[in-house]
Amino acid sequence: MSDAALATPPVSASDTIRTTGILHFTIGVRDNVSAAKFYSDVLGFRVSDWIEESFVFMRCGSDHHTLNFVAGEARRMNHIAFELRDSSHMHRACDLLGRNRIQILWGPVRHGPGHNVAVYHRNPDGQVVELFFDLDRMVDEALGYFEPQPWHRDRPQRPKVWVGLPRDIWGLPPSPDLPEFRRKNP
Ligand SMILES: [Fe+2]
Repeated sequence: MSDAALATPPVSASDTIRTTGILHFTIGVRDNVSAAKFYSDVLGFRVSDWIEESFVFMRCGSDHHTLNFVAGEARRMNHIAFELRDSSHMHRACDLLGRNRIQILWGPVRHGPGHNVAVYHRNPDGQVVELFFDLDRMVDEALGYFEPQPWHRDRPQRPKVWVGLPRDIWGLPPSPDLPEFRRKNP
């Protein structure tokens, strides 16, 4: 490996996306019921939401999801996600994507499950990357619901199975260039 590849040049704040360092990861599994059971029974994750039988969101802290499993795409990464601080950081991130000619393939959209505002693009290997903010948080596990927000339609917003469309609070369905997500967003 060359020295150039090892050296990360200094960049100004306006040239980078500033994440909080918190992310979530979504991976395909043969059986997401078994995956959810393993991660809850063995590692202590909790189920935050299901999308019908296809998708399960799990949390290991207060954030709505840190690890998600999508059924039927065994061993394949679905997407990775980085949290931004707020809408101003999302605005800047979208400008940065635009400046680098990176197409936004979905979003901005405010999701139903997790209620995060998200935009999606692909990295140079074609993998899907999500940037998001405003994710639901369950601050008090004993209460069993997520911190109330004005955009919630359930009051309180408890873990549940989301059925049918539209599921998102606002925003258009994903681009045809994002088939990983269009299966459930025709
Ligand atoms: Fe995500």
